[in-house]
Amino acid sequence: MELQMCSSSSSSQHARVAAWVLLPLLCFSMVLSTAHGGESRKVYVAYLGDVKHGHPDEVVASHHDMLTTLLQSKEDASASMVYNYKHGFSGFAAMLTADQATRLAEFSGVISVEPSKTYRTTTTRSWDFLGLNYPSSHTPASELLQASNYGEDIIIGVVDTGIWPESRSFSDQGYGPVPSRWKGKCQVGPDWGSNNCSRKIIGARFYTAGVPKEYFEGAPLSPRDHAGHGTHTASTAAGSAVGQEAASFHGIAAGVARGGAPHARIAVYKSCWSKEGHCPTPAVLAAIDDAIHDGVDVLSLSLEMSENSYGTLHAVLKGIVMVHTAGNAGPHMQTIRDTSPWAITVAATNIDRSFDTVITLGNKQQIVGQSLYYQGKKDSSSRSSFGNFACLRSCTAEVFDGAQDLKGLILLCNDQTGALFPAAQYLMDGGGTGLIIVSSTTDDMRPVTDCEGIACVVVNIEDAERMCQYYEDTSSAQAKIEPAGTVTGKEILAPKVAIFSSRGPSVTYPAILKPDIAAPGANILAAKQDGYVFKSGTSMAAPHVAGIAALLKVLHPYWSPAAIKSAMVTTAHVTDERGMPIMAEGYSRKIADPFDYGGGTINPCGAAHPGLIYDIDPSDYSKFFKCTISNKRTPVDCNTTTMQPAYYLNLPSISVPDLRHPITVSRTVTNVGEVNFVYHAAVQSPTGVKMEVVPPVLVFDATNKVQTYQVKLSPMWKLHGYYTFGSLTWHNDQKTVRIPIVTRLTIEEFY
Ligand SMILES: *[C@@H]1O[C@H](CO)[C@@H](O)[C@H](O)[C@H]1NC(C)=O
Ligand SMILES: *[C@@H]1O[C@H](CO)[C@@H](O)[C@H](O)[C@H]1NC(C)=O
Repeated sequence: MELQMCSSSSSSQHARVAAWVLLPLLCFSMVLSTAHGGESRKVYVAYLGDVKHGHPDEVVASHHDMLTTLLQSKEDASASMVYNYKHGFSGFAAMLTADQATRLAEFSGVISVEPSKTYRTTTTRSWDFLGLNYPSSHTPASELLQASNYGEDIIIGVVDTGIWPESRSFSDQGYGPVPSRWKGKCQVGPDWGSNNCSRKIIGARFYTAGVPKEYFEGAPLSPRDHAGHGTHTASTAAGSAVGQEAASFHGIAAGVARGGAPHARIAVYKSCWSKEGHCPTPAVLAAIDDAIHDGVDVLSLSLEMSENSYGTLHAVLKGIVMVHTAGNAGPHMQTIRDTSPWAITVAATNIDRSFDTVITLGNKQQIVGQSLYYQGKKDSSSRSSFGNFACLRSCTAEVFDGAQDLKGLILLCNDQTGALFPAAQYLMDGGGTGLIIVSSTTDDMRPVTDCEGIACVVVNIEDAERMCQYYEDTSSAQAKIEPAGTVTGKEILAPKVAIFSSRGPSVTYPAILKPDIAAPGANILAAKQDGYVFKSGTSMAAPHVAGIAALLKVLHPYWSPAAIKSAMVTTAHVTDERGMPIMAEGYSRKIADPFDYGGGTINPCGAAHPGLIYDIDPSDYSKFFKCTISNKRTPVDCNTTTMQPAYYLNLPSISVPDLRHPITVSRTVTNVGEVNFVYHAAVQSPTGVKMEVVPPVLVFDATNKVQTYQVKLSPMWKLHGYYTFGSLTWHNDQKTVRIPIVTRLTIEEFY
């Protein structure tokens, strides 16, 4: 029996909270270049490792000396410098030619030199669904929220598109003074005065150097969020509670909007620009360097990291919990790019809420789709009456060429691509009423979140077939669409890994299981400017985990980032409240596996009291990392015998992608529960693998707080196989501490 810290999700019918367009989390290389002396120059980022000089000024001076030696001119060095990283780690971004970059990489002390890349960015019923009830007239707040004082005085840094300080979600009413340890600042700019920082938004900075000018799109250079993404993520992680029924999207999903840690403080780092959220690496690294200096406790990055960023490693070395997104490239395997073992990488699920939209056909058949079509939307009175209905195989621009009257038309596009344009535009211009989009999963509302002016509804393939059959059998087919009704609770199959959520394994480091955990990320309602909007994406899932990390920080101030991650992973849910396995949405639905959700779906109340933790000495990350970051022929400080393969790291998972002969992996667990406690091992071996745990019983007492055990994994067949999954659970009558096991039998050498 788990300790019941939280009320169960089923009892939360009251505080209906609003939870939300998707910015694709694609990552691509984008460099700012200028011609210089015939050779084109780009922004490169040089990484020099730990800060070796005492004062930041000395660090900066040493960077200038290095660049002066390279360019043989002090003036050129000053002119080409873009950013100096000097607090959390040593390095700089500078405008260089390819040749200069190559030469710089060979300088002593330089670990790597990389061209600038651009990451892309990718209430709240979700919190009740997670068992973190907010107090209402019917139910008390969850014990975890109370015990953690709603995250009071924990500082969550958000690296994103800025923030909209006027949103009710960032009211600082009732907050005590800014924590005295805070060393950040409030950087003013057009549209952002010093009064825009508050006891809630305690700091705000923005990063423009090295950012291609087209990304600014005429927006003022200040921390203000014109794209809407950063406001959404910040309010999800730490939005103050916004009154009962006050937050909704035109009445849909009305309720109390709030963040996971509603009393936590927010520090804003704006490194992402443009409406689509482009985040150049020099600006992201500058944000992380400052965040380390400023004293944030948790850093939430809703952007797709395409590699092991040393910036985030240094943050973790300083005790900051790093939360990343898995990316939105699912549902294919091997679409996850982030492999940082020190970060918590978050996959996205749906929640127990749907937006049922009834479509009635002329023959009285009714079909339930999903939409965000609301009453009162322009011309809605005429919409709830019957109009002409047509089903087309595909809705390309050609079919609208010289099309007859579109007025009142409800059109179904049966190409199953989920493509909205150009059909939506033609219908809107021609006075059409609705567009019905066919998808293998109606949970994925991304196609319709941006639909304005007409009713856009997602229906499943079966229902689409029925509707098209009706159209073919009828000379004048008719249909009508009702506005969406919000349905929450048990009838909704949830959580389910969302179709867009990127899947493991990582191509580059399959020995590090990713993602780590899943959290709500589909159709999450959160703040945008003065209102509330829906967005979907792993960008929305990461701030949920950041908020929960803040609560755990209050309960366990001395836990390392690894301990906090372990607590989340080992207590995650792999079944829903009916005991059914959690599913993963894809082109065909299946039972979720660790490549979909890591340890499972997040269980905040369980994570508060995990029993055992898998802790990691941060220097172990460095050992692993130094062998992988350098692009030099002979890596600096790399001892391949100490930390390869990566499954030797004491992670709350074991992933062996090349099991050819029996191997033994050890893990160390620390008791953080009652002093005298006995745990027994329960093993679920991956198919084709014999798994033994030694010892099978762990006894903890006042003198034995830390225990090491061995897991022997033996391949049962000589086979070049695929990945299979299992688990290892340490349990007693109160606690279950489960880690996922992933193996692949091979007959070839991979490393
Ligand atoms: C933010 O600053 C602007 C300009 O100084 C001001 O007009 C606005 O009212 C401020 N907003 C808040 C929430 O203080
Ligand atoms: C690498 O680590 C191993 C084990 O700690 C040690 O024996 C060996 O001397 C180290 N090698 C180098 C080059 O530091």
